[in-house]
Amino acid sequence: MTNNLVWQDQHVSREDRSSIKHQKPCLLWFTGLSGAGKSTIANALDLALHNMGYHTFLLDGDNVRHGLNKDLGFSDTDRVENIRRIGEVSKLFTDAGLIVLSAFISPFASDRQLVRNLFDQGEFIEVFMDTPLNTCEARDPKGLYKKARAGKIQHFTGIDSPYERPENPQMTLDTSTLTIEQCLATLLSFLKENHYIREKHGKQASTDDTSC
Ligand code: ADX
Repeated sequence: MTNNLVWQDQHVSREDRSSIKHQKPCLLWFTGLSGAGKSTIANALDLALHNMGYHTFLLDGDNVRHGLNKDLGFSDTDRVENIRRIGEVSKLFTDAGLIVLSAFISPFASDRQLVRNLFDQGEFIEVFMDTPLNTCEARDPKGLYKKARAGKIQHFTGIDSPYERPENPQMTLDTSTLTIEQCLATLLSFLKENHYIREKHGKQASTDDTSC
């Protein structure tokens, strides 16, 4: 399908784009069961980073499935395509210089690996929301576990569709034992310690300092 297509070099590089934002682009990939807290924690981190003056973008499973991926369902094939597209979109946003947060169940290890392969070493940060199934099911924020148990929804992750646990995630968070604030503190510490972000940024940062 890529026959007769030639990659066009662009004058403005991703480094040029991120340098005017004084930040290091990366992708924080939140994976875990429905109800594990992916969207909640990704939203909290997005807000915190935004308030610190970083340029971020949040991609969320339910929202993306209303637009770009509204033609996709939850068969194995459709989930693979869902994650492939999100990986490519995340790549475009990081090329634009942004810190991207993606919250998708992304149940298959091979799909998460394909996304990781799109990024340079250290740019893909896998955050495993390791909240136990019984907690997710008890929360059942959208009533979907109940429907899945009743056989009204097929291929529901954790019920009749598998979730492959990440083997070497950069971070593991369990929202059955950690508060939102604790998860946020862990994420921000990780980003600071690994120099993705600084203590001070935006209006507080010196204008000639482009390190992250
Ligand atoms: S993924 O498996 O392809 O990564 P994604 O994160 O985009 O899933 O979408 C998950 C969301 O879709 C869930 O939070 C839930 O609201 C909804 N959903 C609807 N049907 C299913 C299903 N069969 N399995 C999982 N989630 C479903």
